[in-house]
Amino acid sequence: MFVDSHCHLYKEYYEDIKKVIDDATKKGVNYYITNGVDTKSNKEVLETISKYKEVYGAIGIHPENMEGSTNKDIEFIANNLNNKKIVAIGEIGLDYHYTKDNKESQKELFQTLLKLAEEKRVPVIIHSRDATEDTLNILKNYHVTGLIHSFSGSLETAIQYIKMGFLIGVNGVITFKNAHIKEVIAKIPLENIVLETDSPFLTPHPYRGTQNNPGYIKEIAEFVSELKNISLEELSKITNNNLQRIFNLKGRE
Ligand code: NI
Repeated sequence: MFVDSHCHLYKEYYEDIKKVIDDATKKGVNYYITNGVDTKSNKEVLETISKYKEVYGAIGIHPENMEGSTNKDIEFIANNLNNKKIVAIGEIGLDYHYTKDNKESQKELFQTLLKLAEEKRVPVIIHSRDATEDTLNILKNYHVTGLIHSFSGSLETAIQYIKMGFLIGVNGVITFKNAHIKEVIAKIPLENIVLETDSPFLTPHPYRGTQNNPGYIKEIAEFVSELKNISLEELSKITNNNLQRIFNLKGRE
């Protein structure tokens, strides 16, 4: 059984979320963490987790969605952290890929949300793109743990995150031809890895070009099990235990 530790199950992407879950269940997915990126999607996360018992949620403000966000959006997150099915603040972080001109406000928001996570003792789900140095430097100042979603850095960077207590999120990118992340993940201990799809984005090979869904965690798992030379069963057991160490997915086998 697999857990999709990072997806975005929104109506704007999926006409029928129940069908997406039913199809993924048939492929062995038994739990999901759907992530919000702004107040609109955070509200949808809350709705989805109340509807489907196997879906857990993270609420956050993604750096790409931060424009126009106010204290009210942060309060909304703070006010909903007592929901038992909200397992993290996420996704949050830094993204300098497209926008560098708002670096300072990205950092400020990231720090505010990390402070909240620290105060409320809630793990975080981190998005970091082209911003490794700042992400590491900021994280060092907070007693937080969680996972680095869609990790794409070097082995040295992975080791630093792991030392700080973070899990490394592996998704469909690893199945892409020439993906350098293969060599990095090959060298990271299995005890520090979790699987994710980032649905509807980052569809794994051989389905690239079509919309991603949580059922494709199986294709990612198959790739990683070959890379690590262990059985699918063993991989699912270890990665699920890893996730459970940090995120409280109640009742999860
Ligand atoms: Ni995401």
